[in-house]
Formats: sequence, structure tokens, C-alpha cells
Amino acid sequence: MTTNIEKAKKEFLQTIDDFGADPYRLRNHVPEAEKWARRLLKDNPEADVEVVLLSVWLHDIGHYPVPTDIDHAVRGERRTKEFLEKIGYPKDKMDKVLHCIRSHRCKDVMPNTIEAKIIACVDSASHMTEPMYFDMARVDKENGSEFRAYAKMDRDFRDLEAFPEIQNELKEIYENWKKLIKSYEKLK
Ligand SMILES: [Fe+2]
Ligand SMILES: [Fe+2]
Repeated sequence: MTTNIEKAKKEFLQTIDDFGADPYRLRNHVPEAEKWARRLLKDNPEADVEVVLLSVWLHDIGHYPVPTDIDHAVRGERRTKEFLEKIGYPKDKMDKVLHCIRSHRCKDVMPNTIEAKIIACVDSASHMTEPMYFDMARVDKENGSEFRAYAKMDRDFRDLEAFPEIQNELKEIYENWKKLIKSYEKLK
């Protein structure tokens, strides 16, 4: 039998196929976020495993198509609701997943449940352990625009704060990304 998590994964990957490109490299990012989520679930047994894993697979489902002026967390929440209703997912758990999606950017809506705090953390942690900042820097260098990677990594590091042990563990890699991007920016 197909699990709800497998269905969510398929639904998410379909949005990338439908767009026909993956400029945000979500095919790498989301599996990396899943690895972090499994680690945090071990450390936080009170969290609902299914809510967390569904939210991992669905948190960026609002990204494509681009360009768009809709926040991907808002579009993602709406798509996730439609998807979870379609598979007959229970309302109380659906609300928990929707909160995780909507708050994962720690921007206008902040995570206020253990599951949503885990999603915000694993989203940021996975950026630190994939080549995302370098990819951003390369695009900005090519376009001659201001480097966005520094602000992005500062926000990501800040958003690890609900789990100080993870933040502490990633401090060195965060500082090294900053140094690496600075060296790269200096190249003529
Ligand atoms: Fe996102
Ligand atoms: Fe993400």
C-alpha cells in the first residue's frame, strides 16, 4: 500500500516535472532536508513523525512555476491543503502540516509547534549541507548583482536557534561558507 508520505513525495516531484526545470535544485534540497528531519525526529520523540515527513516533502511545493509574485509558503499551503483533502487526510493532522508549510520561512508566520520548529530548522540546516550558497553566488557573479548568499546564510543560521545543539554543530560550516563565498566574490 502506498503511504501518505510516498504520495506526498510523488505529488511534490510532479510539480517539478510539470514546470520542466528545477532552478532551485529542489530535487537535491528536499531529500537533504529529509535526512536532517530523520535526525531531529530521533532527538525529539514527542514530534509527530508523519506530520514532519509530509511537511518535509510538501514544504516547497509552492515554488514552481516561476517567476511568480506569490510567496511560495502561501502557494504551498494552498496546494498542500488541496492535496491532503484529495487523499482524505484527517483534519486535525492536516492543520498541523499546513502550519509547518506556512511558517517554514520564519518570515510573516512563525513556527509555534514542535513539528513546525523542526521543519524550519531542517530547511535551514539542509542549506548548510548542500551547495546552495555557492550556486546563488555563481548566479549573482554572472549577473553582476549583489551577493544574496550572505543574508541568506545569516537568516538560515538564525533559524536554527530553536535547536541550539544543531546551531552549534553547524556554526563552523556556516563561518566557512561565509569565508568561501567572500574568496569567490573577490575573484576577477
Ligand atoms: Fe521554502
Ligand atoms: Fe526548503
